[in-house]
Amino acid sequence: MASLSCALLPSPITTTTRRNFATSVRRSGASGSLKCSVVRVTAALEKERSYKVTLLPGDGIGPEIMRVAVDVMQAVGRREGITFDFTEKLVGGAALDALGVPLPDDTLASCLESNAVLLAAIGGYKWDSNPPHLKPETGLLGLRAGLGVFANLRPAVVLPQLVDASTLKREVAEGVDIMVVRELIGGIYFGKPRGFDVNETGDRFAFNTMVYSTPEIDRIARVAFETARKRQGRLCSVDKANVLQVSQLWRERVTAIGKEEYPDVELSHMYVDNAAMQLVRNPKQFDTIVTGNLFGDILSDISSMLSGSIGMLPSSSMSESGPGLFEPIHGSAPDIAGTDKANPLAQVLSAAMMLRYGLGEVKAAEIIESAVSSTLDKGYRTGDLMSAGKTLVGCTQMGEILLDALEASSTVTLSH
Ligand code: IPM
Ligand code: MG
Repeated sequence: MASLSCALLPSPITTTTRRNFATSVRRSGASGSLKCSVVRVTAALEKERSYKVTLLPGDGIGPEIMRVAVDVMQAVGRREGITFDFTEKLVGGAALDALGVPLPDDTLASCLESNAVLLAAIGGYKWDSNPPHLKPETGLLGLRAGLGVFANLRPAVVLPQLVDASTLKREVAEGVDIMVVRELIGGIYFGKPRGFDVNETGDRFAFNTMVYSTPEIDRIARVAFETARKRQGRLCSVDKANVLQVSQLWRERVTAIGKEEYPDVELSHMYVDNAAMQLVRNPKQFDTIVTGNLFGDILSDISSMLSGSIGMLPSSSMSESGPGLFEPIHGSAPDIAGTDKANPLAQVLSAAMMLRYGLGEVKAAEIIESAVSSTLDKGYRTGDLMSAGKTLVGCTQMGEILLDALEASSTVTLSH
């Protein structure tokens, strides 16, 4: 019996050092435990495992939670032989303050050249009364559109350790596992015409347009059907087809795609008001939900709250071919920014989602997810998750505990 700690690997591990390490182990003719490590290291060499990632810490609690996620990624990278080439850029209020625009060209260019983009959160009271083109949110929407990330996947899972943090009764919350697939770059968020005007009686009015074309509906429907197929095979499409034409087309197309391409997926339809009610009445009836941009914004906040705290949930946004955008679904929480009270877990889990879906590094993602799970098992909670008998920690300490959990799980015992 021999034990080999992955801390033995040089750090940081570059492609060259990994190669050298593998060669030197092979040459040494070592047997037993080291042979196992050769297999692991050579497996790591099978594909290029160096990724360019643009980091967008943004505003409010963004920089605090991003710091934790970066430390965690670096730790898992050292362990798994993955190198990250991080480039930090400004977006939202931070970009407005520094450069006068919410999405500098240089930020979008860096994102487009990356393998993936990790965003924290944007926005704050300070910029709330800015004109629309100078709002932090405009930067985020521009980023989503610029990257073409039309499919936003927002999981809402009630972790067993956090059932009591949910505002719903245990029997309602326990076991909830929903995936909301939200269309992200169309609908009323982007529809034209839009704007402010003055009518003939001199009253100001404002207007937006909810619009979806057939190709826009079809492509998000396909992502949702594929997602449902990998889960429990049930898809609920949410709309307002009893009132809105745009929803009538939505329902027609989702039904057609289902019938023609995914007859194995069980499709149902629900009006958005009923869906909001059903999500708190009996959330376990849902597996995968697909909906437009605005309804998805609202329903994903509701579903996230089932899990105890919006501070727990990551999201991924994927385009047809370019880099994905990964971000927590919560906002920048300006009220607690700088107080070390933020929950970094949604950010850390967004990094895991990035590894899994954006970079194909499934094992690294699992390592991070299990570090989060074991940290919760040990009873550590940030304020938003706190309940009786648990240990209250701040953002920084939660990060340190996560790193310890990662470190503990990285001591691999190999036997002959
Ligand atoms: C979200 C947020 C954003 C949205 C805001 C900040 C523009 O609420 O990601 O859900 O409405 O999409
Ligand atoms: Mg939202």
